[in-house]
Amino acid sequence: MFLGLDFGTSSVKGVVMDGRQKIMAAASSPLTVSRPRPGWSEQNPAHWWRACNAVIAQLRKKKPGAMAAVEGIGLSGQQHGATLLDASGKVLRPAILWNDARAFAECTEMETAEPRARDISGNSALAGFTAPKLLWVRKHEPRTFERVAKVLLPKDYIRYRMTGDYASDLSDASGTHWLDVGKRQWSEELLAASAMRRDQMPELFEGSAATGRLSPAVARAWGMAKRPVVAGGGGDNAASACGMGAIHDNDAFLSLGTSGVIFVANRQFRPNPARAVHAFCHAVPDCWHQMGVILNAAGSLEWLSGLLAAPVPKLLAALGTRTRGPAANLFLPYLSGERTPVGDSEVRGLLMGLAHETDRKVLTQTVLEGVAFALRENLDAIAATGTSIDRLWAVGGGSRSPLWLSIMATVLNLPIDLPAAGEVGGAFGAARLGMIAATGAPPATVLTPPKRARTFRPDQGLRQAYDDAYHRYVNLYPAIRTINRRHD
Ligand code: XUL
Repeated sequence: MFLGLDFGTSSVKGVVMDGRQKIMAAASSPLTVSRPRPGWSEQNPAHWWRACNAVIAQLRKKKPGAMAAVEGIGLSGQQHGATLLDASGKVLRPAILWNDARAFAECTEMETAEPRARDISGNSALAGFTAPKLLWVRKHEPRTFERVAKVLLPKDYIRYRMTGDYASDLSDASGTHWLDVGKRQWSEELLAASAMRRDQMPELFEGSAATGRLSPAVARAWGMAKRPVVAGGGGDNAASACGMGAIHDNDAFLSLGTSGVIFVANRQFRPNPARAVHAFCHAVPDCWHQMGVILNAAGSLEWLSGLLAAPVPKLLAALGTRTRGPAANLFLPYLSGERTPVGDSEVRGLLMGLAHETDRKVLTQTVLEGVAFALRENLDAIAATGTSIDRLWAVGGGSRSPLWLSIMATVLNLPIDLPAAGEVGGAFGAARLGMIAATGAPPATVLTPPKRARTFRPDQGLRQAYDDAYHRYVNLYPAIRTINRRHD
């Protein structure tokens, strides 16, 4: 039996599967985000551990025998979060998350301190990444900074609680901005550029390799007979890719979670820092990936739902399953600044073209389309590196909307495949990595693609209209960039 745990932003999920990858049980436990100031986004690491134990308790209740027989565990998690520990392993402050926008000035400071930063990392410094956050802590909370003995990513903090080991995997470590991604090792230059040291970093492993075993005390508390092997695991996107078998050159998926991601696996390291493409290691050896990341995909719909005091399913149901063409309005989904392609954490979103006839339905369609246009800009930034994507799997909560997927297929001009019901997400990918680490099975034999339930194809009759709307959309950001900034 193999267990996968995914530490998302809004919940912790767990799945336990057998040696033939049949899901025996799944469970989840919710998490909340605290936003103590505009642009800030934090979570208390103790809540991750509490939710993790709640998930384990549910899984044990459902399948005690399967849980007792777990041999391998894999971890997946929200990327980039800074969990700061003192020398005794105590958490020093709330974790600063991937969608926190405070450290924008520190990005420039880091790239000034190390002019080769983009060449070494293959990425531009972005406020969501871990390194600039540490420069922010040094400036604004110097007493905390002095006590930092280790910096861990969210899933790696849980690993520490589970095993006592300070370890990370290369896919997640890529998002710290301390990694030489091409060489798959920590970079002394990037560490120095943010006043950090090598001994403050965890040890690095491939995602499919074992980093250690569950501690005797936790194995006992979780009712596991043997001490399972814990795999490196992956950042949630790389782990999801493992769940979908996206490990071969140009295998790609679209994730519509809180964030929106276009992910593509690469046999070579292929950076494009100028357009904020994320060029990271994959969770399996000798493999990399590129991502375009937007901070609010389903997050934009959640925002609209709060604003209109109507649940998301109700907003979507009002639109049916097809559109008759793009809305007249445009939406720039930069609610918390943006990563790809603009790398701008000071800018904020925009709804354009409001009129007397702009009702709830029009607003919903406008938000769905704004996210689709944002992802098309991401696809263009990836294509500029020479990567060619010819179809995409769709995952994440937003992929439950046939309407959204048909808009996406037309806007991206690509077929989009919906996997058959079943597990494909980060927790499943993590369980697969746990299986590889525990059994030594070759990754390609375990990380196979799911069955396809349905394919959404571009609507050729609407292509031109959506193309025209997209070309209006791409002019928005350059036009408003300098006037649409926060000053708090
Ligand atoms: C990727 C990213 C997000 C989080 C979401 O770079 O920041 O997709 O991993 O959990």
